[in-house]
Amino acid sequence: MPKNPDSLPLRVQGGARLQGEVAVSGAKNSALKLMALSLLATGTTEISNVPEILDVSIMAELLTRLGCQVTVAGDCVSITVPERPDHRADYDLVRKMRASINVLGPLVARCGEAEVALPGGDAIGSRGLDFHVAGLEQLGAEIVVEHGFVIARAPEGLRGADIFLDFPSVGATENLLTAAVLAKGTTRIDNAAREPEIVDIANMLIGMGAEIEGAGTPTLTIHGVPSLNPTKHRTIPDRVVSGTWAFAAAMTQGDIFIRNARAEYLEIPLEKLVESGCIVTATDEGIHVVSKGRPKAVDVSTLPFPGFPTDLQPMIIALNSIADGHAVVTENVFEGRFMFVNEMIRLGADIKTDGHHASIRGREILSAAPVTATDIRAGAALVLAGLVSDGETIVEDTFHIDRGYPGFAEQLRSLGADVRY
Ligand code: UD1
Repeated sequence: MPKNPDSLPLRVQGGARLQGEVAVSGAKNSALKLMALSLLATGTTEISNVPEILDVSIMAELLTRLGCQVTVAGDCVSITVPERPDHRADYDLVRKMRASINVLGPLVARCGEAEVALPGGDAIGSRGLDFHVAGLEQLGAEIVVEHGFVIARAPEGLRGADIFLDFPSVGATENLLTAAVLAKGTTRIDNAAREPEIVDIANMLIGMGAEIEGAGTPTLTIHGVPSLNPTKHRTIPDRVVSGTWAFAAAMTQGDIFIRNARAEYLEIPLEKLVESGCIVTATDEGIHVVSKGRPKAVDVSTLPFPGFPTDLQPMIIALNSIADGHAVVTENVFEGRFMFVNEMIRLGADIKTDGHHASIRGREILSAAPVTATDIRAGAALVLAGLVSDGETIVEDTFHIDRGYPGFAEQLRSLGADVRY
């Protein structure tokens, strides 16, 4: 299904001015979670607008191993869930894709037990599960972590509780929400994540018969129901991919219409692009970003939604690397997320990091070099950086990019970029 299965290096020719239209597909960070929560109802659930990426195949395999029948056809995924799914998710799949942890809440709610391998760390830092575990315990599950697995048991079923999250973690909010929908009584999650993907998940759950109030606000109230029905649901458009194209226009002094992009998901990033000199117009069909000159440097701090997303932090660093002036970018979500800065420095960027701050002095042009993608978003940012370099930049480990950007190279070419595997 995904293109570029051999993870070929991508040759990126500098000097492009991207111009034209791109269409954004469904959000990876929604679709994978929607697939996982389909476990909550016996029968066939259909999810459309699913991006054609490897992680969808991995989630499909995980669900298959849990006893589901999964078919992926184009951007539609159909999942038939048995009366009693299996309850164990093994390390070989979980380590390939962190979103696998999202089966924990649905399995313990549905089966009264779940065993899910710990996902481990990745290239953007350590990513804890303590909020997931503490919240499920409050819902009445007994949890042990041993031999690399989180093992949760609630033989009598879960019961509603008042839960406060120390940090509005997206993953913890998702696991607790998808567990609480089948708990006895009412659950309140305070300081819940407000990301659009949480709202998408809540909307699908409501379509299945769940009773949820407050999605998109810091307080979620969930009145548990005895069972849920399968449903049909369309995934929201990907805000990170949309944002990446907006930055691509800004960096290349381009003119891109980003079809399906929604401005309400990207208010702060779009404000930052306006501050850097772009003209941004939002319509019901998408977002139009035009840049007529060298971008101005802009300071940014990443924060949970509606703050500037950590997933677009590599893009703002890439933009500031060629901007007029000096900027400070502060990363407040993932401590390891500056690792790709060393690759930007290989491209001649003038960046110094100190703890969770990066100080960037813009240069007129970057210096083409071979670089390596360290994660999905860093990979995309390196490609954009290559487009504003003085020659041919080669980006290695492109499998990272393919995990988040279906058909990235083809879309870049359609906008006039000279890129090839
Ligand atoms: C995060 C992003 C999300 C993005 C996704 C993929 C935020 C708030 N979340 O979601 O927008 O799409 O990455 O890149 O920007 N944490 C704990 N204990 C826990 C759970 C989380 O300490 O039990 C910490 C994490 O280590 C991290 C922070 O909380 O520092 C945010 O984690 P979380 O929102 O859960 O991460 P993701 O769900 O992966």
